[in-house]
Amino acid sequence: MPSLNPSGCRVLVTQPIHTGALAKLAAAGHEVVDLSSPSPLSADDLVRRLGRADALVCHLTDRIDERVLSQPGLRVVATVSAGVDHIDLAAARRHGVQIVNTPDVLTEASADFTIALLLAVARRIPESDALVRRGQFHGWKRMDELMGADVSGATLGVVGMGRIGEAVARRAHAAFGMKVLYTNTSPRPDAERELNARRVPLAELLAGADYVTLHAPLTPQTRHLIDAAALAAMRPHAYLINTARGALVDEEALARALADGVIAGAALDVFEHEPRVHPDLLGQSQRVVLSAHAASATTRTRERMSMLAVDGLLSALSET
Ligand code: DGY
Repeated sequence: MPSLNPSGCRVLVTQPIHTGALAKLAAAGHEVVDLSSPSPLSADDLVRRLGRADALVCHLTDRIDERVLSQPGLRVVATVSAGVDHIDLAAARRHGVQIVNTPDVLTEASADFTIALLLAVARRIPESDALVRRGQFHGWKRMDELMGADVSGATLGVVGMGRIGEAVARRAHAAFGMKVLYTNTSPRPDAERELNARRVPLAELLAGADYVTLHAPLTPQTRHLIDAAALAAMRPHAYLINTARGALVDEEALARALADGVIAGAALDVFEHEPRVHPDLLGQSQRVVLSAHAASATTRTRERMSMLAVDGLLSALSET
C-alpha cells in the first residue's frame, strides 16, 4: 500500500509516549502526528483523525474497533500495553492490520506491584496510614488494633500463570514461603518444578487459597470469571487481588461479597468500568485497597513499553 508521505509513513500517536520513542519514529523518516491530549479520543474522533495513516500508536484506553481497523491504508497498530482486549483482533485479521503490543518489559514492575497490593490489604497499610493522618494514633497500646492477616506461609492462588502470574508466584514462593496453586490453559512444568506450584481447577484454587491473584487476559471466556458464585467459593478469610483487567471480576458481586463478609478483602488496581469505580467499593475503606491502574507505572518500565511498541511498529512497517 503506497504511503502519502514519500519519505516514510504517516504514524498517528493517540496519547503521550516516551519522547525517545517519538524521536525514534521521526528518525526513521516517518511523519509523526501526535494527537496526545489529557483525555482519550472518542471512537468517532479517532476514526476522523486517522485519515490515511499507515500506522497507529495507541493505549489501552483507545477502542480499536472495526471502524478504526478498516480505514484504508492502516497497516499496523502498536499498543503501548501488554493487554490487547481493547482491540478487535478478529477485525484486525480481516483487514490485514498487524497488531504489536508490549509484553515482557512490564512483567517485573507489575509483579512487584501485585505483591505490594497483597501486603497492603493483608496488613491494612492504607488504613493504618489514614489513622495516623487523622491524629488517631495515640501510641502502641492496644493488642488488637489493626489486626492483619499473615502472608508468610499462606497459600497463593494464581489465576493465569503467564509471565506476570509466574513472576508473582516466584516472589511469593521465594520471599514469603507461600504455597502456590494455579490455573492456566496449559500446564507450566517449570513453575511446578521450581516453585512447587500445583495446577488445579479454578474451584479447587478458590477453595484452597488465602490470596487469589488474577493474571488472566480479558476475553469473552474470562469476563466475570470471578462472579458471585466464585466469590462464595473463596474462603471467608481470603483476599482477592486484581492487577489484570477489571472485567475479570463482576464488580457489583464483589462489592456485595465484601459488604456481606463473604471474603475478607480486596486489592484492586483495575476496574470493570474504568475510570469509574463501583461506589460501594469506594465506600469501603476497611479491607479494600484501591489503586489507579498503576501496576506498570515505573519510569523505566513505561519508557521500555514506549520503545518496544515503536520498535515493533517499525519492524512491522518494514515487513508490510
Ligand atoms: C497493560 O499493559 O496491559 C497494563 O494494563 C498497563 O500497563
